[in-house]
Amino acid sequence: MRVAMIGTGYVGLVSGACFADFGHDVVCIDKDAGKIERLKQGEIPIFEPGLEALVERNVREGRLAFSVDAADAVRAADAVFIAVGTPSRRGDGYADLSYVHAAAEEIAGLMDGFTVVVTKSTVPVGTGDEIEAIIRKARPDAQFAVVSNPEFLREGAAIEDFKRPDRIVVGAEDERAKAVMNELYRPLFLNETPIVFTGRRTSELIKYAANAFLALKITFINEIADLCEAVGADVQQVARGIGLDKRIGNKFLNAGPGYGGSCFPKDTIALVRTAQDAGTPVRLIETTVEINDARKKAMAGRVADVLDGDLTGKVIGVLGLTFKPNTDDMRDAPSLDIVPALQAMGATVQAYDPEGHEAKQMLPGVVFKAGPYEAVEGADAVVIITEWDQFRALDLDRMKALMKSPNVVDLRNIYRPEDMRSRGFRYSSVGRG
Ligand code: UGA
Repeated sequence: MRVAMIGTGYVGLVSGACFADFGHDVVCIDKDAGKIERLKQGEIPIFEPGLEALVERNVREGRLAFSVDAADAVRAADAVFIAVGTPSRRGDGYADLSYVHAAAEEIAGLMDGFTVVVTKSTVPVGTGDEIEAIIRKARPDAQFAVVSNPEFLREGAAIEDFKRPDRIVVGAEDERAKAVMNELYRPLFLNETPIVFTGRRTSELIKYAANAFLALKITFINEIADLCEAVGADVQQVARGIGLDKRIGNKFLNAGPGYGGSCFPKDTIALVRTAQDAGTPVRLIETTVEINDARKKAMAGRVADVLDGDLTGKVIGVLGLTFKPNTDDMRDAPSLDIVPALQAMGATVQAYDPEGHEAKQMLPGVVFKAGPYEAVEGADAVVIITEWDQFRALDLDRMKALMKSPNVVDLRNIYRPEDMRSRGFRYSSVGRG
């Protein structure tokens, strides 16, 4: 099959490279000429494990190409994917659909023969109808179908998630379009991946419902963690105790500083807006958003607590800044709330993150260090914000010797309280009362 992928952001690039790896002919298109040039040189703009090798192999074997010009690729395509950003609209939290609409206009002007236009971007219910109207208006005679095909990729594990998904969701009404989608994903049917065909609006809502549910699940365990601290229980054992019940499931029950990233924060708010507009507010999700925002802001207080409430003139070593490990993404990362709050309380912050280079622009006043031991040196307290693997096995004696005072706030529970205490640390973690 021939695929045109509009947008070489995270989703477009991973999806394009994976479809090429399935054996399809893929052209990834982006208006950003510099980015396309770099991609052609084999430079990957994001940190995603395995992506560079995947792109390199598929380019070399002639199945994957990059272009600023959509014309040839869209004309030749069986399926054109829209994988452009849908950021939160400033001020009101609605998804900003201007890039999606612009892509639809562009596709309308170029497509030739029966074309399936597939939305991979996360878009509110009814956007497929809008895309269809835009194309129909520009090309009343065109042969096309608009399909919704949401992605469920986690950053840091995106290739694995694409190639071994729990399910594929396709919102399509048109039989020819369903056949094209089946053919595109056929390589996955060997491992019996379920493909769920639904109406287009249903598929659009599945994406938001999935992300909102996961955000809710994390927020639930975070509140249980607070309760555990108050009553002397252990949230990790609670998570295991409930998670073994198959109706609940053990995933996404890790208590922490609150969820961040490019998806949950924006998608929960967008769902809240859609539901309010429809006159059926999703109050659980409204509350989830509020609790999570407040939680991220409250985390700095835990650091102050281990220093008896006073951070004036104190040095805080921060380990991890990205919203989660194995990504360089800083969007809505808890560190963006925690670090400025520490500074506002009078602390000097020195930090290390293996990939969070963007943090340098986003966190003024922070002293960036070259490694974890440099970041803890001379610190009155260390706070672990992101659970990168390399922080899980630090030489604790070396760390303690380097620190001014052995205070550790572990917001990801990567160490065991008894181990830390036996080594002489004053240790605080999440939900282990
Ligand atoms: C999320 C979803 O997991 C993907 O299925 C979805 O495709 C993607 O959004 C999207 O809509 O594009 P992602 O944002 O990459 O993926 O990251 P997650 O692994 O879901 O983590 C999100 C946040 O929740 C992180 O801040 C993470 O630290 C936090 N989290 C996750 C927890 O605090 N506890 C957990 O148990 C799990």
